[in-house]
Amino acid sequence: MKHILLAGVSGAIGGALAQALLARDEESIVVGLCRDAAKVPEPLRSHSRLTLLAWDAEDDQSPDAVARALEKTIPASKGIDTFIYAAGLLHDGPMFPEKRLEELEAKNMARAFAVNATGFALLVQALLPWFRHRDLKRVVAISAKVGSIEDNRLGGWYAYRSSKAALNMLIRTLSVELPRRCKPIACVSLHPGTTDSALSDPFSQSLAQLQVHSPAETAENLMSVIEGLSAEDNGRFLSWDGSALPW
Ligand SMILES: NC(=O)c1ccc[n+]([C@@H]2O[C@H](COP(=O)([O-])OP(=O)(O)OC[C@H]3O[C@@H](n4cnc5c(N)ncnc54)[C@H](OP(=O)(O)O)[C@@H]3O)[C@@H](O)[C@H]2O)c1
Repeated sequence: MKHILLAGVSGAIGGALAQALLARDEESIVVGLCRDAAKVPEPLRSHSRLTLLAWDAEDDQSPDAVARALEKTIPASKGIDTFIYAAGLLHDGPMFPEKRLEELEAKNMARAFAVNATGFALLVQALLPWFRHRDLKRVVAISAKVGSIEDNRLGGWYAYRSSKAALNMLIRTLSVELPRRCKPIACVSLHPGTTDSALSDPFSQSLAQLQVHSPAETAENLMSVIEGLSAEDNGRFLSWDGSALPW
């Protein structure tokens, strides 16, 4: 994995993944996408092999701007090997996971879908010219187990659950089309495991009985899965330990 594009580099898991990717291979070049470069902590922000580009999942013009800027760092003719989508939205100010139907709001549903699903699909669309080379491409969406339809026994969290289920469906649909156009490729959804981050922070008390990983531990777990991917894994929903999850 030499040329990597990582969306959500300002997040806990995205930042830890960028660090792990840069540390594992001295020839790797990472392009990180985020809304605000100042949110990427030092020394990662100034790393010589990291380029930060502006991107907002809630702005549908953003992927074209990313493609134009990416061409200057990694030309489409060189290609990217790995695209990791680590952006995600669960809560933001008045937006909070719904406990009951009355709490569902159209604006929050739209935001969750924009960040958790549409933003991913539009980036893959813009990146198609970077997937045309002959080596294995890895397209990895950091999803969530709560996006599993079969596994949903607790209910609630309507916007987050349904937008992650949509992300999973996007991966499955891409896993049908992309091998026809950009073989060999592995499109997968990955559950990162419960991780200490701003996203999980409001739920730290209820998570106390669960195994909570640090972002660095999660990045190591995810890297093991990502590095082990082959075209045979195309279209799978995997957990951080490499086990299969139900869609
Ligand atoms: N933490 C967990 O326990 C857990 C469990 C299951 C799944 N996940 C998934 O793992 C992924 C990473 O989560 P995390 O725990 O690292 O959370 P985090 O620290 O809150 O990171 C979220 C990332 O998403 C970005 N983002 C939010 N809205 C955006 C927008 N409109 N445009 C562009 N970027 C936007 C954030 O950017 P800003 O810095 O600009 O806000 C940040 O980079 C998410 O997909 C999450 O659903 C996490």
